[in-house]
Amino acid sequence: MGMSIYARLVYPLISVVDAEVTHNVTINLLENTQNSGSGRSFLGRIAGDLPPSKCTVAGLTFPNVLGVAAGFDKDVRVAKGLAQLGFGHVEVGTLTPRPQEGNPRPRIFRYKQQGALINRMGFPNCGVRAALPRLRTLAESPREWVLGVSLGKQKETPLAEAVDDYIEVMQLVYENTDYLAVNISSPNTPGLRELQRGSYITNLLNQLKLESIRLAQEKGVKERPIFVKIAPDIDQEGLLEVIDAAFGQEIDGIIATNTTRSREQLPSAAADQEGGMSGKPLFEKSIKVVRDISSITSGKMAIIGVGGVRTAEDVGKMLDAGASLVQVYTGMIYDGPGIAGRILRQL
Ligand code: FNR
Repeated sequence: MGMSIYARLVYPLISVVDAEVTHNVTINLLENTQNSGSGRSFLGRIAGDLPPSKCTVAGLTFPNVLGVAAGFDKDVRVAKGLAQLGFGHVEVGTLTPRPQEGNPRPRIFRYKQQGALINRMGFPNCGVRAALPRLRTLAESPREWVLGVSLGKQKETPLAEAVDDYIEVMQLVYENTDYLAVNISSPNTPGLRELQRGSYITNLLNQLKLESIRLAQEKGVKERPIFVKIAPDIDQEGLLEVIDAAFGQEIDGIIATNTTRSREQLPSAAADQEGGMSGKPLFEKSIKVVRDISSITSGKMAIIGVGGVRTAEDVGKMLDAGASLVQVYTGMIYDGPGIAGRILRQL
C-alpha cells in the first residue's frame, strides 16, 4: 500500500470514525494478518525491500534504528506484524500489574492538519498476566527484531508504593523481553510524572536495577537493559536529576520523550482537551531533550528519540542530535503501515 493510496483512500475513510475504534480495527486486522503465511508476505510487500542497517545499543543488536513506541501494541497482540512491516523493535505495553479500563471514551483526538493527536488513554491494558502467554510465545520464537516491555503502575497505586507495581510487572516479564522501559512520563495517570523528581527517581531506579540483577541470576539469563522514559515538559533541573539517577544506578538509557501537556500549534479549542499531545508539534521539544541529554552526558547515555517523527529526515535529525534509536507512533496513524519501509529506504 503506497503512501498516496493510504492518504487518498484509506485515511479519509478511517478519519470519520472515532480514533480508538479505528485503532482497534487496525490491531485486529494486523493480528489476523501476521499469523497467516499469505498475511506475512502481504505485510512484507508493504514494508518493501529494506537495506540492512544493523546497530547495537545497550548490548542488543537491532536490525535497524526504527521502532514502534509504547502504547501502540498495549496488549502484546501485533508486535510480530509490526516487525513484518519493517520495524526493528517494538515496545509493547504499557502493562500494569492488573487489568484496567483507562479513562472514559472518547480519549483520542485527531488534529490531522497539524499532524498531531491528543490522547488521555490512561493505560487501558489487559494486565501483565493476560499478556504473558503472548509475550512468552514471542520471546521463544526465533526473531531478528527486538522486543521491549513498557512497565507501568496501576492508576490507584500511591506514588510511595509505585515501585512495587513496576517490580511486579518486571518480575513477570523478565525472561520474556529483550529490554525494559520504565514509564514515568504519561500525563494521563495522576501524579505519575512526580516519579521523575530527584526524591523518587533515584530510589525507583535503584530498586529496579537491584531486582534486575537478582532476576537475571535467579533465572540464569542475561541482565535485561533498562531504559527510563521521560516527559518533554521536564525542566533543566529535572533532567539533570534523571540523568544523575540513571548514571548512578547504571541504567542503560533514556527514552525521550512521551507526550506533552503543551498545545503549541493546535487550534485554541484544543486547550480544553485533557491529555498528552503527540505528533509533529512535539518534534522540536523531543529533539531538544535528546540533544540536551547527549550534551550533558557527552554522548555517553544511550538515547531512544521519540516524538513527532514522520520522515527519514526527522530520523536523521534525531540521530544527529544524539539518539541511537528512533521510535514512531503518531506518524503511523497519519502515514499508514508503509512508514517503516519508506523511512528506512530513505535514510
Ligand atoms: C502513547 N504513548 C505511550 N507511551 C508510553 O510510554 N506508554 C503508553 O502506554 C503510551 N500510550 C500511548 C497511547 C497513544 C494513543 C499515543 C498517541 C501515545 C506515547 C508514545 O509512546 C510516544 O512517546 C508519543 O506519542 C510521541 O511519539 P509520536 O506519537 O509523536 O511519534
